[in-house]
Amino acid sequence: VVGVRIEQVEPDDAATFGAWFEVLDAAGQVARPEEPDWLPHELRQHLLHGSDPDGPYATVALLGRDDDGRPVAAGRLDLPLRDNPELAEVDLRVAPGSLRRGYGTELLAALDARAAAAGRTTLLAYVDEPPGVPAAGRAFAERVGASCAQLEVRRDLDLPPDADRLAALEAACLPHAGGYTLRTWTGSTPEELLDGRAELSRRMSIDVPLGELPLSEEVWDADRVRQKDALAVDQQRLTVGAVALDGQDQMVALTELAVPRPEPVRAYQWDTIVAAEHRGHRLGTLVKIAALRRLAAVSPRSRLLSTWNAQENAHMIAVNEALGFRTAGTESAWTRPVGGRRAARG
Ligand SMILES: CC(C)(COP(=O)(O)OP(=O)(O)OC[C@H]1O[C@@H](n2cnc3c(N)ncnc32)[C@H](O)[C@@H]1OP(=O)(O)O)[C@@H](O)C(=O)NCCC(=O)NCCS
Repeated sequence: VVGVRIEQVEPDDAATFGAWFEVLDAAGQVARPEEPDWLPHELRQHLLHGSDPDGPYATVALLGRDDDGRPVAAGRLDLPLRDNPELAEVDLRVAPGSLRRGYGTELLAALDARAAAAGRTTLLAYVDEPPGVPAAGRAFAERVGASCAQLEVRRDLDLPPDADRLAALEAACLPHAGGYTLRTWTGSTPEELLDGRAELSRRMSIDVPLGELPLSEEVWDADRVRQKDALAVDQQRLTVGAVALDGQDQMVALTELAVPRPEPVRAYQWDTIVAAEHRGHRLGTLVKIAALRRLAAVSPRSRLLSTWNAQENAHMIAVNEALGFRTAGTESAWTRPVGGRRAARG
C-alpha cells in the first residue's frame, strides 16, 4: 500500500518549490533528455500569475512525498477563470526513480479532489510521445479511465531557416495577398493592435480542429492580451509577433513565436490564425515567414522551433511542411470526468 504525503506548493516557498521543480524536470528529461523543458523561473511566474484573482486562470500546485519525506510526485492544475468553467487542466509527473509504485495514481486523486472543490467537472491532460518510445503517460491515462480526445503532431524546424527557401515561398504567396500589409514586432503587443489581437485569440479558441477536446469559446479583450504579454515578460520569454492587416487596418492574421531568453536554443510556435473570411490568400504562410525572419534577427542563437498541430489540421500542416518542418513525435490529449474511476491496482 502506498502512502504519499501531499503538500501545496507556494511559489515563494523556495524549498518546496525547488523540490516540486526537481520532480517535474527529472520526469521531463526521461522522454526527451536532449532538450530543455520549462525553466524554474517560468514555472514560478506561471504560479504567481495563477494566484492573481483578476488573471485569466488559477493554479494549484501539489507535491507528493514518500514515507521518508523524499519528493516523488509533482502536479499542477490550471483552472480557467474567464471561460471554460467546467475544465481543469492537469500536469502530473512522477520522479523517474519512483515509477510504478502508485504515486501517480495517488497524486491524481489529490488533484482530482482539488478540481472537484473548485467546481470543475472535466480533467484534461497532455502526454508527450516522442517517436519510437511507448509513453508511460498513455498507459497510465488508459488505466485511470481517461479517453483520448485528440492527437497532435509535433514538428520541428531547424533555425535559422533557409533564407532561399523562405524567399521562394514568399514569392509564390505574395501574388495571392494583394491588399494586405504585414507587420511584425518583438515583446508586448503594440497598443493599437490589442483589440484585433483579442478578437483573433477568441476565434483561435474555437476555429481550430478541436476533436473531442472539451473546450468552449474563450473570452478575450485588450486587458487579457496585456496579461498574457505581462506573463511572457515576467517569464523572460522573448516573443515575436507577425500580423496581416487588411485595407481597413483590421488584423486578419496572426502568428506568435516565443523564446526563453536565458536558454534560447529552443523556440516555440504559439498561436497562428487567419480569420475565416480571409483564408485562401496565403496569409498564414506569409505571417510565419515574417515572424521567422524577425526571430532570426533578434535571437540568432535559436536552433530549433517546435510546433504542435492537430493531426487533422491539414492546412496548417501543409504550411509548416512548406516551411521545412519535420515530424518529431506526437502529443495526445486525454480527458476524464472529475471524480472518475481510479485505477484498480493489479
Ligand atoms: C505517467 C506517470 C505519471 C505514472 O506515474 P506512476 O507513479 O508510475 O503511476 P502508477 O504507479 O500510479 O501507475 C498506475 C498504473 O498505470 C499503468 N502504468 C503506469 N506506467 C506504466 C508504464 N510505463 N507501462 C505500462 N503501464 C503503466 C499501470 O497499469 C499502473 O499500474 P501497475 O503498476 O499496478 O501495473 C509517470 O510515468 C510520468 O511521470 N510520466 C511522464 C509524464 C506524464 O506522461 N504524465 C501523465 C500525463 S499529465
